[in-house]
Amino acid sequence: MKKGRVRSSKINWVGVVSFFVLIAFIMQMAILCYDFIREKTSNISLIAVLILIEIVILATFCTFIDWIRRKIMIDRPTKKILQATEKIAEGDFTTRLEIKHEYGKYNQYDLIMENLNVMSSELQKNEVLKTDFISNVSHEIKTPLAVIQNYATLLQDDTLDSETRKTYSKTLVSASKRISDLITNVLKLNKLENQQIQEKHEAFNLTESLSEIVVGFESIIENKNLNLNCDFDDVTVFSSKSLLEIVWNNLISNAIKFTDNGGKIDVSLKKVGSNVEVSVLDTGVGMTSEVGAKIFEKFYQGDTSHASAGNGLGLALVKKVIDILGGEISVQSEINKGSKFTIVLKGVVYED
Ligand SMILES: Nc1ncnc2c1ncn2[C@@H]1O[C@H](COP(=O)(O)OP(=O)(O)OP(=O)(O)O)[C@@H](O)[C@H]1O
Ligand SMILES: [Mg+2]
Repeated sequence: MKKGRVRSSKINWVGVVSFFVLIAFIMQMAILCYDFIREKTSNISLIAVLILIEIVILATFCTFIDWIRRKIMIDRPTKKILQATEKIAEGDFTTRLEIKHEYGKYNQYDLIMENLNVMSSELQKNEVLKTDFISNVSHEIKTPLAVIQNYATLLQDDTLDSETRKTYSKTLVSASKRISDLITNVLKLNKLENQQIQEKHEAFNLTESLSEIVVGFESIIENKNLNLNCDFDDVTVFSSKSLLEIVWNNLISNAIKFTDNGGKIDVSLKKVGSNVEVSVLDTGVGMTSEVGAKIFEKFYQGDTSHASAGNGLGLALVKKVIDILGGEISVQSEINKGSKFTIVLKGVVYED
């Protein structure tokens, strides 16, 4: 639930004034009755009995008024709230309560109702996200699973030559790797979203960490004949090394994946005061602004044919990590020219 939704309720001035008017009326009535009785008789015990009767009548009258007030002001909204909570507890997240007063004139019940409405709509949104997530995961698993089934069946043919056998088993390995990568990313994302990953902050040399990751991509870069340039300041930071590795790995692997053979990739690391700025630039396929607006969504892939490897979880993971670490990520991209992803990590520079 968004912060700051709860507003304080205003004092019900009409209620307060009515209460004092009622008390004044009762006292006035009591004085009038007393004067009237005193005029009629001087019998003390009769006066006492009549006053007692008068008190009983007034008390009954007040109780009746209070009963009506409770019925309208307490019982009705309480019943509505109870019915709504029962529906929500049964899983009906479409439940909404109609708030009686206008905004700014809320009483406590209106506030409870509004919070219940917010809670219910958040639960409804989560339900939709959960269903979408499950159908996305199932869809992403289905394709490589079908490949595995097909090629495993084909491999049962004894007449296959060894070369074809090798090709088929390579396809099997890559399809199963796709499933295992998907599961790894889903689990990582789930852990990040449920805050199960402890961001172990430590002082480490970011230049070395980033260099190691770039070196890990060396063979793919060479195979694609890409021109790689690294421009790194020497920076020690206080942050989470393992979480940041998720970021660098995904940004660099995307730059490689979406850049054609012979293209260029620049990775830079700059120290700007106490901040660190890392950018990954490529001269690849680039993206339109419509695509750019969606790339951090789970399972989103610009190429809707899903021809390129991956499941569209990389940048969702990157965004989550950057949010957790309180950094910023921005993208500049032009179709067929290339893309530049920039990460700013604030106040992370560590000086002994
Ligand atoms: N450097 C880039 N150049 C062009 N498009 C990019 C680049 N990086 C990301 N994109 C677009 O953003 C989409 C989402 O990226 P993301 O990393 O989340 O998924 P993916 O790379 O397709 O799959 P995964 O990361 O799960 O292997 C990509 O499918 C692509 O359309
Ligand atoms: Mg990716």
